[in-house]
Amino acid sequence: MAVLFALFLLFSLALSARIRPSFNGTALNNKGTGPSTGTAAGTDDLSFEPGPNTVFREEVPPAAAASGFPPTHGTELRTHDPSIIYVDGTFYSYSVGPRIVVHEAPRMEGPWTESGAVLFGDSVIQKGDRKAPWAANTVYLNGQYYCYYSVSNAGCRDSAIGVASSAYPGPGAWTDHGLIIQSGTGDGSDVYPLNQSNTIDPNVFVDGDGSLYLTFGSFWSGLWQVELESDLVTVKGLSDGNLNAAHLAAEPGKVWRSKLANSKAKTATTGSSSASPICGDPTGGHPIEGGYLAYHAPYYYMWFSWGRCCEFKDPAMRTNGKEYRIRVGRSESARGPFVDKQGIDLVDGGGETIYGSNGDVFAPGGQGILSDAYGDILYYHYLNSSVSYEFSDARLGYNRLEYVDGWPVAVY
Ligand SMILES: *[C@@H]1O[C@H](CO)[C@@H](O)[C@H](O)[C@H]1NC(C)=O
Ligand SMILES: *[C@@H]1O[C@H](CO)[C@@H](O)[C@H](O)[C@H]1NC(C)=O
Ligand SMILES: *[C@@H]1O[C@H](CO)[C@@H](O)[C@H](O)[C@H]1NC(C)=O
Repeated sequence: MAVLFALFLLFSLALSARIRPSFNGTALNNKGTGPSTGTAAGTDDLSFEPGPNTVFREEVPPAAAASGFPPTHGTELRTHDPSIIYVDGTFYSYSVGPRIVVHEAPRMEGPWTESGAVLFGDSVIQKGDRKAPWAANTVYLNGQYYCYYSVSNAGCRDSAIGVASSAYPGPGAWTDHGLIIQSGTGDGSDVYPLNQSNTIDPNVFVDGDGSLYLTFGSFWSGLWQVELESDLVTVKGLSDGNLNAAHLAAEPGKVWRSKLANSKAKTATTGSSSASPICGDPTGGHPIEGGYLAYHAPYYYMWFSWGRCCEFKDPAMRTNGKEYRIRVGRSESARGPFVDKQGIDLVDGGGETIYGSNGDVFAPGGQGILSDAYGDILYYHYLNSSVSYEFSDARLGYNRLEYVDGWPVAVY
């Protein structure tokens, strides 16, 4: 153990970036992996050399931005809540859309080509937007690709997280295993904290000891984390009442007034606006979602999106300072507590804003972290304010991260 830890320190110094399994040198990413002790799923191969597909091929001087944020590397890929992995010379992106849309590109900057979808039909989960699941998170573990996804309806927490797996990252060979955890209605949804959270925006992380963590949550009581069994499709303790949930982040403030009675909501509770209805939160808007756990020695980082993601048709919504931005907190444990620079716990509303609107970049969020030989890349969707505020016009953008005193800084 001590030897392994010493090795880990050496490697992390050498790479000055988080250790990541490279799966025979094929994966540049990978979705959150903790300090390696050699027991995590997958095999650490630290011999990675930067290749022609390395995300940043040349340095471009950053333009000065009054906002303090660097400009984005914008792309032509239309996406919401992207999940990106790199396998054998190809970047794969999984986006919100019919059956979870897959795009492929030889480089992060593109050109991105739609290659198909993850699911063969609607999700097998019988609720929410099962034709076009939300916020996929694809990870490579134990020789298989796992694509976690959510089904829900806007403004409601009658939601579920499902998972599909495949031997290949592209379309064509995925098996939909369906539901693994749900809130609002259905089996297990009355279990704490599912009785007060919204099971969307899944993110799976492998810790150095092989523990598997599923982070989820949106609005209401914020972000939560549970453990997965080694089969990757079962939530530990859910069936026998021993759900070991950690509360990671929340927005306790009422950022906007409650917008009850969502007419589209098929599952709206009748009448009463008290007692935590499934659609609409009577305590107001607590806009926090899109949790994403990443490791960069020696800390774990809880990334999340704060603010309004969508619906910017009304110009007042664009200028009230409540649009999406990317925040983070850090911890010495994958299970938290995560704090910001002031030491404020994310569950008490803490969080450092690492990237937000600047220039014609508007409302960046739905982020993830990808690593290459040079370090970490923050990727996200954003709206181009000189083009459109339409939901469907959001694009993939990305920035390199540098770490200053253990805090990430977005650079060009
Ligand atoms: C990794 O490479 C080894 C040796 O070439 C091979 O036996 C193994 O099957 C590979 N694993 C994967 C996941 O491709
Ligand atoms: C926004 O769109 C304009 C016009 O097409 C383009 O010149 C600019 O580079 C875009 N900015 C970003 C951040 O995508
Ligand atoms: C959820 O369950 C917990 C534990 O039983 C309980 O204390 C809490 O009040 C419940 N929350 C709601 C919103 O019903």
